[in-house]
Formats: sequence, C-alpha cells, structure tokens
Amino acid sequence: MAFDIDMIKDVYSKMAERVDKARDIVGKPLTLSEKILYSHLWDGNPDKAFVRGKDYVEFAPDRIACQDATAQMALLQFMQAGKPKVAVPTTVHCDHLIQAKDGAANDLRHANDVSSEVFDFLESVSNKYGIGFWKPGAGIIHQVVLENYAFPGGMMIGTDSHTVNAGGLGMVAIGVGGADAVDVMAGMAWELKFPKLIGVRLTGKLSGWTAPKDVILKVAEILTVKGGTGAIVEYFGPGAKSMSCTGKGTICNMGAEIGATTSTFGYDDSMERYLRATEREEVADAANEIRSYLTADDEVYANPEDYFDQVIDINLSELKPMLNGPFTPDLSTEVGSDMTEKAKKNDWPVKVEWGLIGSCTNSSYEDLSRAASIAQQALDKNLKTKSEFGINPGSEKVRYTTERDGILEVFEKLDAKIFTNACGPCIGQWARYSDPKNAPKNSIVHSFNRNFAKRADGNPNTHAFVASPEIVAAIAIAGRLDFNPMTDKLINEDGQEVMLEEPTGWELPPKGFEVKDNGYIEPREDGSSVEVKVANNSERLQLLTPFEPIGDHIEGAKLLIKAFGKCTTDHISMAGPWLRFRGHLDNISNNTLIGAVNAFNKKTNFVKNQLTGEYGGVPDVQREYKKAGIKTVVVGDHNYGEGSSREHAAMQPRHLGVAAVIVKSFARIHETNLKKQGMLALTFKNENDYDLIQEDDTFNFLDLNKFAPDTPLTIEVVHSNGSKDEIKVEHTYNDAQIKWYKEGSALNLIKKQNA
Ligand code: F3S
Repeated sequence: MAFDIDMIKDVYSKMAERVDKARDIVGKPLTLSEKILYSHLWDGNPDKAFVRGKDYVEFAPDRIACQDATAQMALLQFMQAGKPKVAVPTTVHCDHLIQAKDGAANDLRHANDVSSEVFDFLESVSNKYGIGFWKPGAGIIHQVVLENYAFPGGMMIGTDSHTVNAGGLGMVAIGVGGADAVDVMAGMAWELKFPKLIGVRLTGKLSGWTAPKDVILKVAEILTVKGGTGAIVEYFGPGAKSMSCTGKGTICNMGAEIGATTSTFGYDDSMERYLRATEREEVADAANEIRSYLTADDEVYANPEDYFDQVIDINLSELKPMLNGPFTPDLSTEVGSDMTEKAKKNDWPVKVEWGLIGSCTNSSYEDLSRAASIAQQALDKNLKTKSEFGINPGSEKVRYTTERDGILEVFEKLDAKIFTNACGPCIGQWARYSDPKNAPKNSIVHSFNRNFAKRADGNPNTHAFVASPEIVAAIAIAGRLDFNPMTDKLINEDGQEVMLEEPTGWELPPKGFEVKDNGYIEPREDGSSVEVKVANNSERLQLLTPFEPIGDHIEGAKLLIKAFGKCTTDHISMAGPWLRFRGHLDNISNNTLIGAVNAFNKKTNFVKNQLTGEYGGVPDVQREYKKAGIKTVVVGDHNYGEGSSREHAAMQPRHLGVAAVIVKSFARIHETNLKKQGMLALTFKNENDYDLIQEDDTFNFLDLNKFAPDTPLTIEVVHSNGSKDEIKVEHTYNDAQIKWYKEGSALNLIKKQNA
C-alpha cells in the first residue's frame, strides 16, 4: 500500500484538540489554513497566536515528495545525516529527466539510457532509507501525489514549486528547497513565516466551455504574478464545492504562478468521491469523522472579510474561458474577445503550431476526457486539425484508464503524439528543434502552468499561451489564437461550415481507474544492506564528504569577489545546462558565482587572483586559493541570495573553500542555507563599510572565538597599501546555529547526535 493510513489517523486523532485550543488562543473562528497550520506545530499543542506575515514558526509536516532533479542533492545530503531511515513518509518521483520527442515508448527508452545512473542512484538510495520510489514513466509527481498520498487536513512539503497541487485534496502543501526537505527527513522541524491569508469566494457554477483552469487564470489576472506572495489562498463557497477534486488541484497548482505560499480548499463531497475512486476508502472514512475540522469554521466563510487579509469574489457562472500569455501567465485575454487586435498590436503569431495537453496542472482523467470530446468532434465533423497535438498523461493510472476507455485513441486518430507520463515539454524537455536558439517565431497553446520564454522548447521566439485542455483542443483544431469556439465556425474537408459543441467529460472514470503496473517500488523494510549506486567516475553524481569545520580562527582570508548589485541564487549557481550536474557538487561548483558582477570592473566571472595578480573566472581563482590553503570571503550588496531556495548556492562556495559571506542584507532562505552548510553569513553593521572593501583586501577575524548570539563580530580589513579598517559585522545565529558552524554543518551535528 502506498499511502500511510496509520499516519493519517494519527494526524486526525490530534487535530480536534489542537484546533480547539488554537481557536481559544487566537480568540476567533479559524480558517482551514489556520486549522492545518496550528495542528502541525512542531511543539504539538498551540500556546500562542502567531502574527501573520511576521512570525517564523516551526512545523512538523506529515509527508515529503521529491522529483528526480532536486532529489539528487537532497538525498546525497540526507545520506550525511547518519540516519537509517527517513523520519517522515517520503517519495521520489522520476518525471523531470524524460525528454519528449518521438512518443512514450522511444522517449522512455532514451531517458533510461541517458539518465540511468541518476535513476539507479535514486532507486537504490530510496530503497536503503525507506523512501517510496516512482520509476520513470510512473507519472508526474503532483498527479501521483494527488492520486496516492494527499489527504484533507494534512501538511506536506516537496522539492518542487508545484507541490501546492495537493491543495486540491485539502492539504497545506508547500514547495521548498532541498535543504529544508533534508531537515525534515532527518527528523528536524521545518520553519516557515506564518503566512497571510487570501480568501477567494467562488459563487455560481462552471458551465459550457469554462473550466477550473479559467478560475486560476482569472485569479492570476487579478493578483498578478506577485500578488499571492507570502500568503495561503483559501477557496470556498458554493462554486468551490461544485468543482471536481482534480479541478481544485489545477487551481491550487497554478497558485505557484501568483507567488502564493500555497492554496487549499475545504474537504467536501468531490474530495470524498476522489478518495474513494482512487482506492482510499479508509482515508475518506477517517476524514468524514472529523469533517468539520477539515474546513473553516462556518462564521469564517459567512463573513470572510473579518478573517482573511484579502477577499476576492469570482462568480463562476459569469466566468469566461481565458487564454493567458505569452511569456507570463497573468497576461489574460478572454477567448475570442480582442485577441485579433492584441495579436496584431503586439506582433504575436496568430497561427498556432502546437496544442499541448498535460503537465501536473491539467492531466487528470477529467481533463483528458473533456479535451477528447472536442477532438472527437474534429473526427466526426471531418475537420482537418491545423496544429499538431501532444499529450502528456499525468500518471500511468490515468494513461492506462484513458487508453482502456478509448480516450487516447481519439487523439491518436488526430496524429497526436502521446508522450511519456512525465513533465516533458513543460520543463523544456521537448526535443522540438535541433537548434532552439535560432528557431523561428511561432505560437503554441498549452494547458501547463508556466509559459515564460524558452520554458517549453528552448526557443526564445515561441509564444506560449495557457488555457484549459478543452480550449487548447479547440484552438489546436482551428489553428488560430483568435478562434472562439462559442461563436466561430470552421470549414471542414467537405467545404461545410461546422461548429464545435461544448465539451463533455467525466469527473471520474465511469468504469473506475485501472492500471497494470503503476510504477511504484516499495522500499525494503530494512535497507541496511542496500548499497547506494554511484559510479566512481560519474560526471553527474558524487557522494558527499562531510565539510570540515571552518574553525574560530580566520586570518589572512582573501577577498574572492565583491559582488555589485543584484546577486540572486541564479547568479551564484546558474541553472540551464548546469542542471545536469545537480547531483555532482564538484562539477556544479564550476559555475559558482559566474553570474555575479565584480564591483571593481563590472564584469562577470572575472576576478583578481591576489596570489598572482592575474584575472580569471571565479571558480578557477577560488580553486587556486583552496589549493594554497587560503580561506576566502565573498562580499555582497542588498538581498544577497534572493530567488530560489536552491541549496547549491550555499554548498558550492562552501565546497570550494569560501569561509564567510559578508553583505548589506540577505534573502533569508539563503542566509539560513549558508548557516546550515557551516559557513559564516554576516551583515555589515554599517552598510557603508561595503565601500571600504578593496580588490586586494585581506580579512582577519578578531573575535570569532567569542562567536555568540546577538553579539557582533569584529573584522580587521587589511588593504594592499598596508592601511587597515576595523569593521563590525552582525549575524542572526542562535545557539543551535552556532553549533552547526562549530561542527562544520547542520548535518554533521545531526550525525554526531545520532552516533
Ligand atoms: Fe513537471 Fe511542469 Fe509540473 S515541470 S512538476 S509538469 S510544472
């Protein structure tokens, strides 16, 4: 059995008491989000009311999910913790490393050829440490999680931003960096700033061509790509109850596109139906017993303005199908409406080359059946489709069932390519061109979530528009962006005018789900004898060795780079082609800080080697210092390390021998990541001291042996002419974090505590 009913029953057994106590402490009725947050506090029972958007709170998530690209470094790190098993139920899903090209059979074979060492490593490490493993082709992480693991009222984290999809089944599910996942796997708490709460009241009912996707495309229009930042979006109202569970998943999934921490819905009949259809009767029965705790208190939804920080109203009966894009998911156009003029004005190609249906956002049975009802009309009405079709089923369960029910056959009759049950074109794993950089300008429509430049096919000139699967099907048949299936006629092969009728479909398969091999591999009960597979000469994987403590004596450290202006985690550890080295710390370290601008010459990847006086790339110069046994310092500006929670941005400088990062201010997650890797993350007490730092400077830490919470440190900066400046630097280390530093890393400390 994949899901853990005992764990779920345990969560439910504590929920009522914790929620009742939280309600007393907060002093008012609670939203669903608060119920889940307060019932998952690390310390158990709530004892204070937290300030939304301000307080940092420690939580105890119920589950973890990792995808193949991010799991590599997370699990390599977990191996350092010295634990025999993961502390909470965890799964790994192989979905990102599979290219879409010829169709599922060939593509899967190819992926297994080129990435077998990564898959073998993930399978063996999962088997050893009690992690459920979903092999390549089993499905896309978030669809598989919804089908098997998500449960109302639960809290999960995942090393992928669309982990939020599980909100469709009433969870608080949040995307995190690998370092956070490792902490929880190793039995530590997980910290989050207590989110603000946005309520979305859905009235009316979807009908005709309008789908759940249009709800989130509308919300994206209202809130824009930043409007949900730091907030949980909670959907409620009669409209919410009228939608399917997988439709709710679509809405929560794209909450990532408005920057929301996550999104969720209260437990309702659609969720119960989905749980039962996916063979989780026991979960449905357990949830029914505490039903009132799995949704907000009645008063909250009656007067939402009193309980949410912001309330948005959407009447589903008035909502129109949307086509958002190109290049950003919040640029909305109602289907038909003024697309002709907009496309003309902005020079968007009106002709549509491809219609892609799938991704973790829209690949459910309901999605494929509704899109197929449109595709079938093209066959019945003798229409020649003007665009090519590509389909990515969300899971083997969906693929097998839709094949059995003749749904995939409809697309195949239109010459669609049925790609692997994997991310494929959604993450640039689409071998559409041999030379994407020089590929022609064109438009595509898809039912995915992200549509920024190059996301699907690597071609900066591809204009990608996002819509529901049924609208994607209609537009792909018509081959025009400005086609409106509600009003426009098409000419068929017999020269007749025909119209497409409204989509129809099934929320759940009428004959039930079926699958032969769902692709799941249960880990051994006792994995102690399992050998983790990493080839010695592997380019892509490297076992980690514990970092040595930097120590309380730093003298004669050299400046590696003084970064000028913005320095995000992308500047520190670039993505793109470097993704292939995500599991090999030494190889990926060759991109360390290559995007950062050197403050002294305004060039990237061009810094002075103080040992030779020559200039070179940042990683090369740093490797020279390391060889000479010289520690180094990185200096930065404001909000250093903003962007993603990528732990590589901290691990790489640490691996190469950087001892301290001194900046005007940090992005908090990166600051914590540096601390976890046993480095010094420091801020100038007087930010003008940034200007004192010269290219040839040497740093002596004068009182590091007195490293203590709330106590600034003193650094002597020695300039090349012999003059000196003494500067004060501040830090936010608490006692536990100072121990991380002293032990060399947080994982070293965990290992020591386990010994
Ligand atoms: Fe995969 Fe795209 Fe979802 S990359 S996890 S299908 S957002």
